[in-house]
Amino acid sequence: MKEILDAINALDSSDATAEDFAALPLPESYRAVTVHKDEAGMFEGLTTREKDPRRSLHLDDVPVPELGPGEALVAVMASSVNYNSVWTSIFEPVSTFGFLERYGRLSPLTKRHDLPYHIIGSDLAGVVLRTGVGVNAWKPGDEVVAHCLSVELESADGHNDTMLDPQQRIWGFETNFGGLAEIALVKTNQLMPKPRHLSWEEAAAPGLVNSTAYRQLVSRNGAGMKQGDNVLIWGASGGLGSYATQFALAGGANPICVVSSPEKADICRRMGAEAIIDRNAEGYKFWKDENNQDPREWKRFGAKIRELTGGEDVDIVFEHPGRETFGASVYVTRKGGTIVTCASTSGYEHVYDNRYLWMSLKSIVGSHFANYREAWEANRLIAKGKIHPTLSKTYTLEQTGQATYDVHRNLHQGKVGVLCLATAEGQGVRDPEMRAKHIDSINLFRDDAPNRGE
Ligand SMILES: NC(=O)c1ccc[n+]([C@@H]2O[C@H](COP(=O)([O-])OP(=O)(O)OC[C@H]3O[C@@H](n4cnc5c(N)ncnc54)[C@H](OP(=O)(O)O)[C@@H]3O)[C@@H](O)[C@H]2O)c1
Repeated sequence: MKEILDAINALDSSDATAEDFAALPLPESYRAVTVHKDEAGMFEGLTTREKDPRRSLHLDDVPVPELGPGEALVAVMASSVNYNSVWTSIFEPVSTFGFLERYGRLSPLTKRHDLPYHIIGSDLAGVVLRTGVGVNAWKPGDEVVAHCLSVELESADGHNDTMLDPQQRIWGFETNFGGLAEIALVKTNQLMPKPRHLSWEEAAAPGLVNSTAYRQLVSRNGAGMKQGDNVLIWGASGGLGSYATQFALAGGANPICVVSSPEKADICRRMGAEAIIDRNAEGYKFWKDENNQDPREWKRFGAKIRELTGGEDVDIVFEHPGRETFGASVYVTRKGGTIVTCASTSGYEHVYDNRYLWMSLKSIVGSHFANYREAWEANRLIAKGKIHPTLSKTYTLEQTGQATYDVHRNLHQGKVGVLCLATAEGQGVRDPEMRAKHIDSINLFRDDAPNRGE
């Protein structure tokens, strides 16, 4: 691995060719963050909160997978923790080994994914080491990020919108050989150029959540946000929300940011948002008990929104908490407005009063990750410095269990990064001039940000 790392670190100054890179010997094994199939029942009887990713996530030495047609092996410099790492690590709502078994039944090539361990992680920034047969657009030595859409594209169903492919999977969640590792296996259609002004860990942070927020909020496949829209954003300083807030601000909309602490409210303010609701300080109790909601609390929430918007209701609700908030989200949306949802963190059986939906001609739109083009557009906005990574903290590969625990317990802000082959933060920047121009925005979520507390 040392030879690979030396070659990567010299990339900026050396004139190494793709052939030189392709000639670097691959190691027999590499370090990867895994869950183990024989431990899938380890948390039985515990509540969701009690399930501790530090117990289920392992750092193992694993063999380098065989490279197939249309694929690439990538040396991973950095990755990030997404909420799907939490789901995998606590084996909820189901163990991800079922996904791997099902994928393995598709073909002899996909059989490689069906293993007694699952290498997780759905983001990466790194350098291409090898490309498979039929790959022309990418070559060894290319500096890349990878989005996490894995599709087979053999069915016409997915030809307009690759998210509709019947064999659509999230890489590193529903497939093996993910990004929380020193080497990852991807389809080369997942590859995109690494934004040159960012370090490895900054470049790896946006991928999954930025693309998801782009489809959910901006794309016509989602809410199709337009200038002037009032957009209610749950978890506005979290993984998804920190990008939704940026898209709303950059697109001329008005984000109404919901967060749970003064610190998170401060982050939203520094992003440029003005309408912010601290849900803890307001003490909303949308559910009276396990089975009954309290419409008076929906009204109180709606009144707070109107107070912040000059009497207007919201055009779009950016939903993901699910059961706990969904009834309120449907209620506060304006006539003809859209509730766009991509998740159900607090429970997937949503209850809402349908009178407020049909009588007011509102729509509920389901959204999931992003198609190839949407992921590309979302990365392009990062590369152009229009949208910025929201990295707050970086961990080592050994500390991935702790990083995942922090996300599970909502102790984090924005995104948390993981250094894989990168030996320190800040490596991999190729355009320092552009970086200098955007440095305050890039650092906005950092605990040690220079503009913190201003
Ligand atoms: N379908 C997809 O493609 C897709 C993609 C990405 C993520 N997701 C899913 O989306 C969800 C959020 O992901 P994320 O990366 O944004 O996670 P995250 O970084 O944990 O942020 C979510 C934020 O939502 C807020 N929140 C959590 N529970 C809440 C509740 N009960 N009521 C109100 N607010 C609540 C919290 O913010 P405050 O405490 O500040 O309010 C939290 O920080 C996860 O379930 C994830 O699996 C789906």
